[in-house]
Amino acid sequence: MSSESVQSEIEALRQDLHRHNRLYYIDHRPEISDEEFDRMLRRLQDLEEEYPQYRDPNSPTMRVGGDISGKFEKVKHRYPMLSLSNTYSLDELMDWAARVGKASAEEPEWVCELKYDGVAIGMRYEDGKLAQALTRGDGETGEDITTNVRTIGSVPLVLQGDYPDRFEIRGEIFMPLEAFAKMNAARVDAGEEAYMNPRNTAAGTLKLQDSAAVASRSLDCMLYGLYGDRLPGDNHFDNVKAAASWGFKTPDPSKRFIERCKSIKEIEAFLSYWENERRQLPFEVDGVVIKVNDYALQDELGFTAKSPRWAVAYKFKAEQATTRLHAVSYQVGRTGAITPVAELEPVLLGGTRVKRASLHNADQIARLDIRLGDAVQVEKGGEIIPKITAVDFTRRAADSHPFTYATHCPDCGTALIRKEGEALHYCPNTEHCPPQVKGRIEHYISRKAMNIDGLGAETVAQLFEAGLVKRPEHLYTLTKDQLLPLERMADKSAEKLLEGIEASRNVPFEQVLFALGIRYVGATVARKLARHFGSIDALMAADMDSLMAVDEIGERIAESVLDFFAERHNIEMVEALRAHGLQMEIKKENKEQKGSVFENKSLVVSGVFQNFSRDELKRSIEAYGGKVASSVSSNTDYLVAGDKMGPAKRKKAESLGVNILSEEQYLNMIASE
Ligand code: IVH
Repeated sequence: MSSESVQSEIEALRQDLHRHNRLYYIDHRPEISDEEFDRMLRRLQDLEEEYPQYRDPNSPTMRVGGDISGKFEKVKHRYPMLSLSNTYSLDELMDWAARVGKASAEEPEWVCELKYDGVAIGMRYEDGKLAQALTRGDGETGEDITTNVRTIGSVPLVLQGDYPDRFEIRGEIFMPLEAFAKMNAARVDAGEEAYMNPRNTAAGTLKLQDSAAVASRSLDCMLYGLYGDRLPGDNHFDNVKAAASWGFKTPDPSKRFIERCKSIKEIEAFLSYWENERRQLPFEVDGVVIKVNDYALQDELGFTAKSPRWAVAYKFKAEQATTRLHAVSYQVGRTGAITPVAELEPVLLGGTRVKRASLHNADQIARLDIRLGDAVQVEKGGEIIPKITAVDFTRRAADSHPFTYATHCPDCGTALIRKEGEALHYCPNTEHCPPQVKGRIEHYISRKAMNIDGLGAETVAQLFEAGLVKRPEHLYTLTKDQLLPLERMADKSAEKLLEGIEASRNVPFEQVLFALGIRYVGATVARKLARHFGSIDALMAADMDSLMAVDEIGERIAESVLDFFAERHNIEMVEALRAHGLQMEIKKENKEQKGSVFENKSLVVSGVFQNFSRDELKRSIEAYGGKVASSVSSNTDYLVAGDKMGPAKRKKAESLGVNILSEEQYLNMIASE
């Protein structure tokens, strides 16, 4: 290829990818499939690899991330990054508005916005490209986290439309609640401690030294402030609107995320709307920011040492209540991790009766100096489980004494251990501690693991107490006669349970591997390991280096896998499960050749099918010798068309003379083999 044509292909791909990124992350109306997007991205990656002279820090390929060398550089802010004065009181807010009103001849125009609970970011754009992204730091100097910010899908790397050549835009990076919940579920699955809240998780994520990990965490970014000499408008609202047209994600007026208000009454209406509605938002907000819209009036009002006089934050009161701490109990997880739980005098909080709250770990108890019998403040924030946020020391009994954390497992009495650098205590009695034993079996049968129908936590407890099942492999020797004496176990339910256990022998290896319950190996990591090593034997033979060579497997996971297989009882479990016929390798038949109708043919799959998932159809094509391509081109031999296939694809196939196969025709072709 000539160098001009390489360069123009690279540029065209970048432009297309920036556009599709915007359509996906900001406008929420994608025009192409994820596969198509990935294909284009891969092509661009290949070209950039081959022609490094055309690399660009704002290429869409930079969103994938990579290692960051060393520390984040400290950089002085061009415009100091101030904070806002806060109030929780409507009266104070009204006083502020009245004071501001006096500075202007007529009632000023206000802008009300949500106050996003995330991490402040300031981003400088030059000639329409992201040049630098800084954290707030101490307000004067921030840290350069550009590489990490580039991985956030809703941050434009390249702008569109009529933007000023130099300006700064500020906003908030946050983790949407769904992403936070998913991430925590995966952590709990892998036997890790859940993160406390989305805000801290977003902050921690932005400081990671591996931007590929940042890319996988689904951060989002909302922008709400512009700074520069040549901004298009003379007021805040118009400039935010203009920023949206350049490709930024800004507060949407049609969702009432931002609103111009002509009077204090209108401000009040905005506040009372969000006081309730904020609970429906897919991200956390902790208040409303009220700003003077007009820049000239903003300048006139100026700043105090720390914050502008032209804006104020009205913070929502977290739902709080004070109650008595009766006791601290401890939960023992399947990996032996101990979590302390506060047992409270029941109290009403946000419409529900609360009698337990999370205490996180021993450090948290010590930090707040929580003692038995204390009057404590419980709060329901973004988390589902309420937490204790403070102690009312004025109400502390004279004879109270500092809380002593458990030294021994509350269930089996073994001395607890706490590894260096870890927040949680562990019970090391892995093999015999009852909640660990039951927890492992519950994990083994869970939906994402072996998915055993007819077996729940209650039955597991009964089986354990009856001495029938102490390890997963014991499930496979259960008989109906053993089951029937159990409470609430009828003929039918016993049969169903045995059928469920029987069916688990066919569960794919990657799920079996997850079911083994190796610490830090969640469903996703298990899949990666299974695909990489192909069998339990290869995995057991792997050393540190070969484990760490697997995509996204770091030292912590690798070590945990090695530790797991170093335990005799774990090897015994694997061997017993193998002897019971469980899948200990990736099924060969997936790759098996079944025929050759599509030998040397290129096929594209599109739409939804009756007899196959798309992945199954692809595997089937490969089993009959064909290759699967992601988009229709002149090299395509067949397009297999399912329901809901896009009309553009069909048109393209027709214009290129590609054979279009219905699902039925496809089935006939493979049947004729
Ligand atoms: S305007 C001069 N608008 O709240 C300060 N800030 O407590 C201008 N924040 O540092 C800030 N949502 O990180 C503004 N809609 C919003 C905001 C917002 C969240 C954060 C921001 C700021 C902090 C102040």
